[in-house]
Amino acid sequence: MLEWSDRFSVGVLEIDAQHRELFRQVNRLLEACMQGGGKNLLPEIFDFLGKYAVEHFATEEQYMTRYAYPKLPEHKQAHESFVQTFLDFRKKAEAQGPGVDLIVQVNKTLVDWLKNHILKMDQEMGKFLQGVMERK
Ligand SMILES: [Fe+2]
Repeated sequence: MLEWSDRFSVGVLEIDAQHRELFRQVNRLLEACMQGGGKNLLPEIFDFLGKYAVEHFATEEQYMTRYAYPKLPEHKQAHESFVQTFLDFRKKAEAQGPGVDLIVQVNKTLVDWLKNHILKMDQEMGKFLQGVMERK
Protein backbone atom coordinates (compact mmCIF):
# COMPACT_ATOMS: atom_id res chain seq x y z
CA MET A 1 0.00 0.00 0.00
CA LEU A 2 1.06 3.53 -0.64
CA GLU A 3 0.54 5.88 2.15
CA TRP A 4 -0.04 9.56 1.61
CA SER A 5 2.41 11.71 3.49
CA ASP A 6 3.41 15.36 3.54
CA ARG A 7 6.25 14.77 1.15
CA PHE A 8 3.61 14.28 -1.56
CA SER A 9 1.98 17.60 -0.83
CA VAL A 10 2.55 20.33 -3.43
CA GLY A 11 1.12 23.00 -1.14
CA VAL A 12 -1.91 23.81 -3.29
CA LEU A 13 -5.07 22.47 -1.64
CA GLU A 14 -7.00 21.72 -4.79
CA ILE A 15 -4.14 19.75 -6.34
CA ASP A 16 -3.37 17.88 -3.10
CA ALA A 17 -7.01 16.81 -2.79
CA GLN A 18 -6.92 15.39 -6.30
CA HIS A 19 -3.64 13.59 -5.62
CA ARG A 20 -5.11 12.04 -2.48
CA GLU A 21 -8.01 10.73 -4.53
CA LEU A 22 -5.56 9.11 -6.94
CA PHE A 23 -3.81 7.46 -4.00
CA ARG A 24 -7.13 6.06 -2.81
CA GLN A 25 -7.93 4.56 -6.19
CA VAL A 26 -4.45 3.11 -6.70
CA ASN A 27 -4.61 1.53 -3.26
CA ARG A 28 -8.00 0.05 -4.10
CA LEU A 29 -6.51 -1.53 -7.18
CA LEU A 30 -3.43 -2.85 -5.34
CA GLU A 31 -5.64 -4.30 -2.64
CA ALA A 32 -7.95 -5.94 -5.18
CA CYS A 33 -4.90 -7.44 -6.89
CA MET A 34 -3.62 -8.92 -3.64
CA GLN A 35 -6.98 -10.57 -3.22
CA GLY A 36 -6.98 -11.81 -6.80
CA GLY A 37 -9.72 -9.45 -7.97
CA GLY A 38 -7.64 -6.99 -9.97
CA LYS A 39 -9.17 -8.05 -13.27
CA ASN A 40 -12.69 -7.17 -12.19
CA LEU A 41 -11.69 -3.76 -10.98
CA LEU A 42 -9.69 -2.80 -14.04
CA PRO A 43 -12.56 -1.42 -16.18
CA GLU A 44 -13.65 0.75 -13.27
CA ILE A 45 -10.09 1.99 -12.76
CA PHE A 46 -9.81 2.85 -16.46
CA ASP A 47 -13.08 4.80 -16.22
CA PHE A 48 -11.87 6.62 -13.16
CA LEU A 49 -8.50 7.43 -14.73
CA GLY A 50 -10.09 8.65 -17.93
CA LYS A 51 -12.12 11.27 -16.08
CA TYR A 52 -9.50 11.95 -13.45
CA ALA A 53 -6.69 12.61 -15.92
CA VAL A 54 -8.73 15.17 -17.86
CA GLU A 55 -9.83 17.03 -14.77
CA HIS A 56 -6.65 16.78 -12.73
CA PHE A 57 -4.17 17.59 -15.48
CA ALA A 58 -6.34 20.52 -16.53
CA THR A 59 -6.24 21.83 -12.95
CA GLU A 60 -2.46 21.64 -12.77
CA GLU A 61 -2.04 23.13 -16.23
CA GLN A 62 -4.36 26.02 -15.36
CA TYR A 63 -2.25 26.86 -12.32
CA MET A 64 0.94 26.62 -14.33
CA THR A 65 -0.47 28.81 -17.08
CA ARG A 66 -1.92 31.39 -14.69
CA TYR A 67 1.39 31.81 -12.88
CA ALA A 68 3.57 31.50 -16.01
CA TYR A 69 5.47 28.41 -14.91
CA PRO A 70 8.52 28.16 -17.18
CA LYS A 71 8.50 24.34 -17.25
CA LEU A 72 4.88 24.07 -18.40
CA PRO A 73 5.74 22.54 -21.81
CA GLU A 74 7.65 19.55 -20.43
CA HIS A 75 5.15 19.08 -17.61
CA LYS A 76 2.32 19.04 -20.12
CA GLN A 77 4.28 16.58 -22.21
CA ALA A 78 4.53 14.21 -19.22
CA HIS A 79 0.76 14.44 -18.69
CA GLU A 80 0.13 13.68 -22.35
CA SER A 81 2.38 10.66 -22.28
CA PHE A 82 0.58 9.33 -19.18
CA VAL A 83 -2.76 9.70 -20.96
CA GLN A 84 -1.39 7.94 -24.04
CA THR A 85 -0.02 5.05 -21.96
CA PHE A 86 -3.45 4.52 -20.43
CA LEU A 87 -5.25 4.73 -23.76
CA ASP A 88 -2.92 1.96 -24.95
CA PHE A 89 -3.56 -0.13 -21.83
CA ARG A 90 -7.25 0.29 -22.28
CA LYS A 91 -7.12 -0.74 -25.92
CA LYS A 92 -5.11 -3.81 -24.97
CA ALA A 93 -7.58 -4.72 -22.22
CA GLU A 94 -10.48 -4.38 -24.63
CA ALA A 95 -8.76 -6.40 -27.34
CA GLN A 96 -7.36 -9.25 -25.26
CA GLY A 97 -9.09 -9.00 -21.92
CA PRO A 98 -7.25 -7.87 -18.79
CA GLY A 99 -4.46 -10.44 -18.42
CA VAL A 100 -2.04 -10.66 -15.53
CA ASP A 101 0.72 -9.00 -17.57
CA LEU A 102 -1.45 -6.01 -18.27
CA ILE A 103 -2.47 -5.63 -14.64
CA VAL A 104 1.16 -5.78 -13.56
CA GLN A 105 2.00 -3.08 -16.10
CA VAL A 106 -0.91 -0.90 -14.98
CA ASN A 107 0.11 -1.19 -11.33
CA LYS A 108 3.73 -0.49 -12.11
CA THR A 109 2.87 2.58 -14.19
CA LEU A 110 0.57 3.99 -11.50
CA VAL A 111 3.00 3.44 -8.63
CA ASP A 112 5.79 4.89 -10.72
CA TRP A 113 3.62 7.92 -11.47
CA LEU A 114 2.90 8.55 -7.80
CA LYS A 115 6.53 8.16 -6.84
CA ASN A 116 8.18 9.85 -9.75
CA HIS A 117 5.81 12.37 -11.25
CA ILE A 118 4.26 13.59 -8.00
CA LEU A 119 7.49 13.53 -6.04
CA LYS A 120 9.56 15.18 -8.73
CA MET A 121 7.76 17.22 -11.39
CA ASP A 122 4.75 18.12 -9.24
CA GLN A 123 6.95 19.03 -6.28
CA GLU A 124 8.99 21.33 -8.45
CA MET A 125 5.81 22.92 -9.79
CA GLY A 126 4.45 23.22 -6.23
CA LYS A 127 7.52 25.05 -4.97
CA PHE A 128 7.26 27.51 -7.83
CA LEU A 129 3.51 28.04 -7.33
CA GLN A 130 3.86 28.56 -3.59
CA GLY A 131 6.56 31.14 -4.24
CA VAL A 132 4.54 33.20 -6.71
CA MET A 133 1.25 32.79 -4.87
CA GLU A 134 2.79 34.10 -1.65
CA ARG A 135 3.92 37.24 -3.40
CA LYS A 136 0.39 38.04 -4.60
FE1 LIG B 1 1.60 16.88 -12.88
